Amino acid sequence: MTQTIALITGASRGLGKNTALKLAQRGIDVIFTYHSQADEAAALVAEIQALGRKAIALQLDVAQSEQFAAFGAQVQSLLRTHWQREQFDFLINNAGIGINAPFAETSEAQFDQLMNLHVKGVFFLTQTLLPLIADQGRIINISTGLTRFALPGFAAYAAMKGAVEVLSKYLAKELGPRGITVNVLAPGAIETDFGGGAVRDNEHINQFIAQQTALGRVGVPDDIGGVIAALLSEESRWINGQRIEASGGMFL
Ligand SMILES: NC(=O)c1ccc[n+]([C@@H]2O[C@H](COP(=O)([O-])OP(=O)(O)OC[C@H]3O[C@@H](n4cnc5c(N)ncnc54)[C@H](OP(=O)(O)O)[C@@H]3O)[C@@H](O)[C@H]2O)c1
Repeated sequence: MTQTIALITGASRGLGKNTALKLAQRGIDVIFTYHSQADEAAALVAEIQALGRKAIALQLDVAQSEQFAAFGAQVQSLLRTHWQREQFDFLINNAGIGINAPFAETSEAQFDQLMNLHVKGVFFLTQTLLPLIADQGRIINISTGLTRFALPGFAAYAAMKGAVEVLSKYLAKELGPRGITVNVLAPGAIETDFGGGAVRDNEHINQFIAQQTALGRVGVPDDIGGVIAALLSEESRWINGQRIEASGGMFL
């Protein structure tokens, strides 16, 4: 039987890391990228290997689309060497940063930084990797609850994620003939390093979100990785072109 392989961007920490572990626990091998945290990436490789799965960490700045051709060639070569395969099965576009700035004070540099990583990066990395994604494969793009509800300070960030949600529908339409499904997973506020770790470390923000959440607490990475793994399971094969929110019921 062919070994299933996932490629996750930004899995050295947070939601990407949790997803990598949840997939490895389900018998899936993982290629993942990191940006700055080489030690964290190496630790995750060891953790996945301890689960009996193959794992490879690659450095990539998803905001630098000129690196994508070389990255694609690197992935292709690794697939041949380590798996004797030409393609992988699941792409999870997860890498991201948060910038909290009021609309009136958002600089062009901040806008461009978010645009290059969250929109241009997702668009052209997916385009580059498309020949390496197997027919009947899956793509999950990570968005945010902030596209459904508005909180001050996230105009640029949420607009980028909104673009990813629209893009995902178009990808689902265009890749359908190859049997590839494309869905959006939109987490609510989760305790990670994201945005300087504010949701986790700022008691005021943490309590505010907990009060606005039906389940009465802020999310943790363990609330997300399993949802992504479930969306990638055989049982979820008919879900396509959808935005699925995992927020514990924020702002219902
Ligand atoms: N946490 C939340 O509340 C929340 C809510 C909704 C949506 N999200 C979304 O979920 C995704 C993951 O967020 P997280 O909470 O896991 O954040 P995180 O803990 O800060 O982790 C971010 C990950 O993205 C990588 N990364 C950052 N900048 C990058 C770049 N320029 N190129 C490539 N990789 C880069 C980081 O790599 P290094 O570790 O190597 O630097 C890290 O692996 C993001 O798309 C975010 O927008 C998060």
